[in-house]
Amino acid sequence: MPFPRPAPMTAPGPAGGDLLRAIGTIRRDPLRFLADMHDRFGDVLQLPIPVPPTYVVTDPDAVRRVLVANAKGYGKRTLQYTTLSLVTGEGLLTADTEAWRPQRRIVQPAFHRDSLELVAGHVRTAVDRLLRRWSARDGEVVDVDEAMMHLALEVVGSSLFGSDLSPDAARLADATLAALEVVVRKARSPIQVPVAVPTPTNVVLRRAVGRLDSAVEAMLAERATRPLTDGEPPRDMLDLLLAAHDDDGSRLSRVQVRDQVVTFIVAGHETVASALTWAWHLLATNPESWRRLRAEVDQVAPAGTTADLARLPWTSAVLDETLRLYPPAWLVTRRSLAADVLGGVEIPAEALVIVSPWLVHRHPAAWPDPERFDPSRFLDAEGHRRRDVVASPAYLPFGAGPRMCIGRDMALLEGVLVLASLAARVDLEQVGPSPRAVPLVTIRPADGLPMRVRLRR
Ligand code: HEM
Repeated sequence: MPFPRPAPMTAPGPAGGDLLRAIGTIRRDPLRFLADMHDRFGDVLQLPIPVPPTYVVTDPDAVRRVLVANAKGYGKRTLQYTTLSLVTGEGLLTADTEAWRPQRRIVQPAFHRDSLELVAGHVRTAVDRLLRRWSARDGEVVDVDEAMMHLALEVVGSSLFGSDLSPDAARLADATLAALEVVVRKARSPIQVPVAVPTPTNVVLRRAVGRLDSAVEAMLAERATRPLTDGEPPRDMLDLLLAAHDDDGSRLSRVQVRDQVVTFIVAGHETVASALTWAWHLLATNPESWRRLRAEVDQVAPAGTTADLARLPWTSAVLDETLRLYPPAWLVTRRSLAADVLGGVEIPAEALVIVSPWLVHRHPAAWPDPERFDPSRFLDAEGHRRRDVVASPAYLPFGAGPRMCIGRDMALLEGVLVLASLAARVDLEQVGPSPRAVPLVTIRPADGLPMRVRLRR
């Protein structure tokens, strides 16, 4: 079989030999590799990969062009999303352009303001449960990363199927995580073996997806036995999804409901957990920010409802700044559908465009002293949230444009409520060295986040 012809280089970038020599760094510390490449080759650089031609785009205006101004010129048929779709199917996150638009319209009502109030209730329940566990371990070292993963899974699970007391929800979440683990392994493998080939990895994947499918089936069958009566309000997001329909009356098909349910578990759990874990680490290592957060929480006495958000600007700014320094979705990819020009560089059709919020959020032209944790970047002189900063092209923890995160408001609400309600009740002190950030599906601490928990009297 002939070797693919190398893509012509249209932008500065490392030579093939440089890339081979960097393989060790790419595997060990991909964030370091990306930062080095950006330092050496600038805002639009090309990696010497024959097929597809591959660009890393960090210039905020060029990123905006890919995600917003010329969003129609870019699709999601990339290795990142096609591998993920082995689990999520054609759910919202992975659907390519044509399949996506009607779905987004149909699903949007499930993220309406009413469901946020339901989410707030589930956050209160999950936080109370965590506090009960921690009160039995007062003064001990706990893994905060594990606790945040647990909590976020519980919130997304109960927000979706809160009214179900059946064990199906737990089975579904377990099966999703098992399948996702295989997908990450597959995406990182240099050789892409089609799923139909029964390699050990593919067999595990097929089994996990099979378990996933039967768990969703069981839940939908159970839900069909007790449909909403006329006028009864939706009990959870599954009710909202099942009721969701387009203006022309069309509803989501059964497969589409399955795909969305799995998508929400995948997209809505580890992301939130990662943000919360890093927020606790940053607060523990920045005592002045922690002092202000504690003072705000003590003054406001949060009720755990959506109304708290407006009353907790410093807590919100802590979350915003955490999402800048540790954007859980550290890599967003697109395929160019036609030739384009980004930052003065010609990008051919069918190119892979990699945008790393990790890099964009450290762009020195947009963020003075970018490595410094400083939540006040997000507040004006009166202490109000600066919408111009949150909406700036150099800030994209939730992406931008039409494919922006549908769960953003849910994530921000959950993040702020968890930080505020735990800060009101416990002190968390970091023990051991600072955690090393490892970019997997999201950015995670290499060995968890051990902290000493003390209940406030
Ligand atoms: C801190 C938490 C979160 C972060 C950082 C985050 C980040 C993102 C990003 C960057 C995208 C855009 C990806 C792209 O353009 O290719 C995205 C899309 C998406 N997110 Fe989130 N997300 C979070 C929480 C959630 C939650 C809680 C849910 C749902 C329960 C969710 C569901 C989705 C879905 C369905 C999409 C695809 C939207 C579309 O293409 O129409 N996310 N998220």
